[in-house]
Amino acid sequence: MLQQQFVELAELAGGFIHEIKNHLSTLGLNLQLLSEDFGQPQSQRDRRSLERIQRLQGECGRLVDVSNDFLRFARVKDLELQPVGLGALVEEMVDFFGPTARQANLEIKVYVPADLPPVLLDQDLFKQALLNLLLNAQQAMSAGGELTIQAAREPDWLVLVLIDTGKGMTEEVQSKIFRPFFSTRPGGSGLGLPTVRKIVEAHGGAISVESEVSRGTKFTIRLPIPPASANGSAKGTSVETIANLNGKQMPLAEVMVPALDRGFLFGDAVYEVIRICRGKPFLMAEHMQRLARSLDAIRIGGVDLPRMEQRIRETIAAGKFQEATVYIQVTRGAGAKRAHPFPPQATPLELFWVQEFVDPYLEARQHGAAVTVVPDIRWDRCDIKSTNLLPNVLAAQAAKDAGCVEAIFIEKDGTLCEGSHTSLFGVLDGQLLTAPNSNAILPGITRGLVLKLAERAKIPLREHVFKQVDLPKISELFLTGTTSEVLPIVRVDGEQIGDGKPGPVTRRLQEAYQQAARETAE
Ligand code: PDD
Repeated sequence: MLQQQFVELAELAGGFIHEIKNHLSTLGLNLQLLSEDFGQPQSQRDRRSLERIQRLQGECGRLVDVSNDFLRFARVKDLELQPVGLGALVEEMVDFFGPTARQANLEIKVYVPADLPPVLLDQDLFKQALLNLLLNAQQAMSAGGELTIQAAREPDWLVLVLIDTGKGMTEEVQSKIFRPFFSTRPGGSGLGLPTVRKIVEAHGGAISVESEVSRGTKFTIRLPIPPASANGSAKGTSVETIANLNGKQMPLAEVMVPALDRGFLFGDAVYEVIRICRGKPFLMAEHMQRLARSLDAIRIGGVDLPRMEQRIRETIAAGKFQEATVYIQVTRGAGAKRAHPFPPQATPLELFWVQEFVDPYLEARQHGAAVTVVPDIRWDRCDIKSTNLLPNVLAAQAAKDAGCVEAIFIEKDGTLCEGSHTSLFGVLDGQLLTAPNSNAILPGITRGLVLKLAERAKIPLREHVFKQVDLPKISELFLTGTTSEVLPIVRVDGEQIGDGKPGPVTRRLQEAYQQAARETAE
């Protein structure tokens, strides 16, 4: 009922404006004749009359413009939709706008990939929307500037972005620009952007604005991709991300990596990201060389890189990718159980996917961007029990290769801080020593218990680091950890510790640990 009333009211308003326009054109015509009568003013009075007539002509022209804007706004209802390539449409409008742009000192840059899927548009209406946005940009850049038009695909949407380097808008203005009759421009009808919004929404799309005063404005339009194109089946339109897991092609969402995969558990993996520009991999050889080097450095063998390169090229061709990236990750694969050293017979997991590239730095590259300075903690936060464990994995493997149970990390100054997956204790001059908690070690839970047990047993204790050079004086050494419990160490790199047997302090703490574990079970 209410809807019906609105329709009637809108029709009435439309009819009213048409009627007014007819009278306006008579008015305009007569003003034109009158101004010609005063073409060569003879007296001061004639000159004044001519000025007034011209002002009236201006006002009359404005009323015609507002009426036209109003009718365009009201006209957005019954759409004649047909599949349209957005690229061609944008190009047509930019061409059409070219002379105006040149006069206004505007440079228009268009980045629309050639392989975007078609969208269903009412061409005339959508051209109107684009024209309004071009005019809006021109008005925002009264002293000239740059307008970038970019299109890209999201899974279900086609995204069109217009970025100008104009005067920008405050947040308050941004919140009002799509309201009918709001305008910051003297003489503006305030219907340009509301019409754009109405047109975009009538297509099932959405428009948003981001702006910064003195920097510029970005309008983002999202248009729905019709289902036939959205699943990539429409000819020449597939830009769906395509993944490949161990040689098998599949959608990225279907890729499953086993929980025991070492990339997931330990960060025991290497990766590359490669750009695809106009359908061709860029600097592919260099990236593949670095991948080979990374694989070699962490001793992942058996990856056929030429075969992988071939698969990547085939995927790019199959997906008709133009502007895209390839993400490659090779992990050491999955072991039979979780353990730091390399599993005996794991097969590397080879994963890559090709994905359309939506440039996130387009604006920053134009305007420049800001950065912040942070301490380099790569990876200096051993106190965080993170799965960023590749250094620990390599250390544990080095121990295994050397026929040892564990590897102890040594700092640049010779300090022995902890093991690859254990905490370290030593006995020096009858005193139990262990590194104090800091960013350099993991605050071991077992370490904490052992410290308590030592205190209870009245073993002299000092949280203090010891160095490699102290080893000859160290009488006992042991490791602690959830899986290692209290583990005596009697040799370091072939050098004997103490008398080469587990020492008395270690034995007492082993017993105390067992006792504590038993008490929990009771
Ligand atoms: N690791 N230091 C490191 C680097 C460790 O990874 C661990 C434990 C420890 C001993 O912490 P706790 O006493 O809380 O277990 C010290 C586990 C056992 C592992 O990665 O398997």
